[in-house]
Amino acid sequence: MLPHPLRFWQGLVQTKTIVRNFNTFKMGSVVDLFQGVSIWWMLALVTISTLITMVVFHKVHSLVIKFWWTPLKLRKTMEQQGWKGPKFSIFVGNILEIFKFRKGELSKDLGIRNFDIMSRVYPQYVLFSKKYGNKVFYNVGSDLIIIVTNPSLVKEILLDVGTYQKARPSIFVLSALVGKSLLTMNGEEWVNHRQVFTPTFRVEVLKGLVNKITKSVTLRLDIWEEKIQDAGGLMELEVRYDISIITMEVISHMLFSNSDQKTKQLFIQLKALFGIVNQAITNPFFIIPEYSILPTMNNRKIVNLKQEVDKTIKQIIEIRHTQARANKTSYGDDLLGLMLKNMDGEKVGNMIKCQLSIQDIFNECKAFFLGGFETTSTFIAWTMLLLAEYPEWQEHACKEILEVCGPNIEMDTSKLNQMKNVGMILNEVHRLFTILPRMLRVATKDTKLGDIFVPKGLILEIPTFQIHQNPTLWGEDVMEFNPNRFAKGISKACQDPQGFIPFSFGPRYCIGQNLAMLQSKLIVAKVLSRFQFSVSPNYIQNPQYLATLTPKFGVQLHVKKLPPSTS
Ligand code: HEM
Repeated sequence: MLPHPLRFWQGLVQTKTIVRNFNTFKMGSVVDLFQGVSIWWMLALVTISTLITMVVFHKVHSLVIKFWWTPLKLRKTMEQQGWKGPKFSIFVGNILEIFKFRKGELSKDLGIRNFDIMSRVYPQYVLFSKKYGNKVFYNVGSDLIIIVTNPSLVKEILLDVGTYQKARPSIFVLSALVGKSLLTMNGEEWVNHRQVFTPTFRVEVLKGLVNKITKSVTLRLDIWEEKIQDAGGLMELEVRYDISIITMEVISHMLFSNSDQKTKQLFIQLKALFGIVNQAITNPFFIIPEYSILPTMNNRKIVNLKQEVDKTIKQIIEIRHTQARANKTSYGDDLLGLMLKNMDGEKVGNMIKCQLSIQDIFNECKAFFLGGFETTSTFIAWTMLLLAEYPEWQEHACKEILEVCGPNIEMDTSKLNQMKNVGMILNEVHRLFTILPRMLRVATKDTKLGDIFVPKGLILEIPTFQIHQNPTLWGEDVMEFNPNRFAKGISKACQDPQGFIPFSFGPRYCIGQNLAMLQSKLIVAKVLSRFQFSVSPNYIQNPQYLATLTPKFGVQLHVKKLPPSTS
């Protein structure tokens, strides 16, 4: 009964008589299990269990680093420079309180002339800047985000695309829609892709689209006219949907030269994908990138829809390939033709370094299709709403269009440029309903921004919406719809040239800016030259920031034909 450690010197397994009585840790059954097992098996088991332990330890370690240590370190660095922000919860950061606040704001009624919608569109700014001042940060998941409102710092960020790259949270939402594309890429990959597409979006090239857009709009407006006649002279119309058909036809033309059954099918599938992502975004957890791997209903729907979209694009590409081979012709001069030539290694313009893969083509088709119709159609819908709400501006614009284009309303790019009032109205709509209310960038290395030390991994948020509504930059009437502020150009309307950036600024400015402005002017001018409209009592003002700043329930207007003397 005396303590005698030496009895174990041969090890537990060898000391059989002792083992039978060694029940202190209920080891008997375990030891029985190993009886007769060779030393090599034992070694293998030990090695495997060590490896599993190491992998688990590594995972736990990297999770701790990612979700706890890194955000804490970043916060400390910013706090030392006088930045402040709310406490954050591990994994979710501050998103639950942002969503709760936003939900409360969304339930409030809004008048159409009430442009004070910052707390709906950009709740994090209102929620945290009131409490912590203008040097404020917050967390989305493990990402620490600072809000940069000073236009000269914004300029510095947007100009330096090497140091400040597209950041994860925004990339994530976009990736769910378009995968890796011009919208989401960074570095050399982005430079190469941008070079391929830039020439197609130059003003001189886009001039050739005026006829196509005019044809598309005229066709749709003829349908409106028929419907109005059938309805006895006045009809209610949800304009956003109709406008999106026109912008879809235009982008189809740019991408695929035509809009046949397949491209229409693609449009329907992409609309569905966009709808489901918009729905998914209302779940606070969706903006945490890790959430996407969970097999939730929406995530599975997104994956399935993406597969369907890819299948349709593949069929469109195959048809183009077969036709080009059968007719021994080139792939064509639209964007798809340009990409296919590039994929075959054909020299396109001065572009030789980048060779697009088939997956690149899938993704770019989606990116242009979505970037091309959703943003522009939503913007035009907001413009029509404000023109309906402010009939005096509708009249100004209509008079100008008739003066510039004559009674037959013939339009070309030079005439569009002469429409000063229309241009001012569009700028004011961009300011009040900024379609992409914020931009996100991540610092890829430790750097200095003005006198701020920016550590690697910090995310910088550019709140375009807030900048467009800053009274210091725009004056006391900032919350009013007043296109006149742009009468003497942007530089006289705003204190700072970087205070007006609806299409961003610097090397990554919107590649579709010229196209969007051309389409918007043309569509608005064509509509105003034939119709008069007012807001329907069925319209509910409910702007929401989903993937873009959207009128949640569409835009319902009462539309009637202009009397013959004016049209
Ligand atoms: C009213 C309409 C539009 C608005 C307000 C708008 C706004 C913007 C903004 C703000 C960005 C920069 C986003 C960021 O850097 O985080 C951007 C980028 C982009 N836009 Fe647009 N856009 C519009 C129409 C279009 C159209 C018609 C197309 C294509 C046909 C398009 C394609 C793109 C692409 C591909 C990028 C990424 C450019 C790059 O990073 O190199 N956009 N847009």
